[in-house]
Amino acid sequence: MNTRNLFFRHMAQTSSFPVALEIERASGVYMFGYDGKKYLDLISGISVSALGHLHPAVTEAVRNQLEKYMHLMVYGEFIQEEQVALAAMLTGCLPESLDNVYLVNSGSEAIEGALKLAKRYTGRSELVAFRNAYHGSSHGALSITGNEKLKQAFRPLLPDVTHIRYNEPADLTVISKKTACVVAETIQGEAGAIVPDNDWLIALRKRCDDTGSLLILDEIQVGMGRTGTLWAFESSGIVPDILVLAKGFGGGLPLGAFIANRQIMACLTDNPVLGHITTFGGNALCAAAARASLGVVLDEELWKNAARMEQLLRAELHHPAIKNVRGRGLLLALELESFEKTQKMMQLCIARGLVTDWFLFADNCIRIAPPLIITDTQIREATGILLECLDQI
Ligand SMILES: Cc1ncc(COP(=O)(O)O)c(C=O)c1O
Repeated sequence: MNTRNLFFRHMAQTSSFPVALEIERASGVYMFGYDGKKYLDLISGISVSALGHLHPAVTEAVRNQLEKYMHLMVYGEFIQEEQVALAAMLTGCLPESLDNVYLVNSGSEAIEGALKLAKRYTGRSELVAFRNAYHGSSHGALSITGNEKLKQAFRPLLPDVTHIRYNEPADLTVISKKTACVVAETIQGEAGAIVPDNDWLIALRKRCDDTGSLLILDEIQVGMGRTGTLWAFESSGIVPDILVLAKGFGGGLPLGAFIANRQIMACLTDNPVLGHITTFGGNALCAAAARASLGVVLDEELWKNAARMEQLLRAELHHPAIKNVRGRGLLLALELESFEKTQKMMQLCIARGLVTDWFLFADNCIRIAPPLIITDTQIREATGILLECLDQI
C-alpha cells in the first residue's frame, strides 16, 4: 500500500500544498518518520500537544478510562466521573465567576456554544469581533473570523456582525447596548501572535460592563500555560464572562469547552430545553486525557517554563533575515520578508529535522509553538537549525 498516493487520492485536501510529512510515531517533543528520521516538533500540532507526544500521565489516564467505557450517553445526561472531575479541576484554577463548564468537541463548537449563550442571555443579536481574528471554520465561528478572503465564498453568514480593529481603543465605541457579546482572542494567534496592550484589554472589559455586553475570550490557542501564565488574560487582570478553550485543553484528544458563571450558563437549560446538544462533547477518553494533562501543567507550573523558553528563544534568534519577533511565551512569530521566504524556510527546516509552520493571516511569519515541556537543550537545537536555514533563504 502506498499511503502517500492514497492520501492524495482519497482524502479531502485542504490546500494544494499540504506538508505531507509521513510520521510513524511521536514521543515528547520529537516525531519520527517511517525511515527513522527524527523531527523536532516546533508547532505541537498547532498548539495542541502541550505536554509533548504520548506523555505517560496522559496515556495512563486514557488507558485506565478505556478499561471502563468509551461512550455512554450524549453530553449532560449521565454523571460521568472524568467529566465531573475535569470540570471541578478546571474551575478550581479559574477566577471564581467562571464556575460552570460546558464540554464540547472542538474549538469551533465551543465558539458556537459561547455565541449562542451570549445571544440567549442578553436577548441581543449583535456580535462584535476583530479584524484578523480566527475563531474556527463552522458558519458561526467563520462569521466572527476577521478575514474576508476566507469568508467571502461562504456568504451569507451570520447577520449583525461588526469587525473592529484589534488593540485600537477608539473602535471600542462601536460596542453598544445592542451588542450581545464581544469575542476576542486574548492574544491573536493566526494574525501572527499579536499581543494587545493590557490597557486596551482593561478598556475592552470596561466597555462591555458599561454596555451590558458579554466579553468572550477565546483562549483556544493561548490558554493552558502557553503564553507564560496559565491563562493569557491573567496578565491584564481582567476576567471574561465566557472563556473558550480547546486545542491543548484536550491533552492531545479532541475536546473544547466554554466556561461561564452558573447563572449565565443556566440559559441553555430551558426555553428551549436542550439549547445546545452535543453527542460526543466531553467524551470520557478525552475528559480523562484533559484532566491528566491539566494536572501535569498545574503540578509542574509549565507556564513558567514557557516564559523561560521565550527568553532563551529571543536571546538566540538574531539574524538579518528576521524582521521582528512577536508573541508571548511559547507562541512566537518570526517575521520574514515574504510568504516565499517562509515556505522556503519550512522546507529547509524539515529537511534538517525541524517542523515549523506559518500563520493563516500572517504568511510571512514562522510559527514557534513547541510543547511546553521543551528544554533549554532542545530550544538550542531548534534555534541552531533555524539560524542555519535563515542563512539560506
Ligand atoms: C483562536 C482559535 N479559535 C478557534 C479555533 C478553532 O478551533 P478548532 O479547529 O478546534 O475548531 C482555532 C483553531 O486554530 C483558534 O486558533
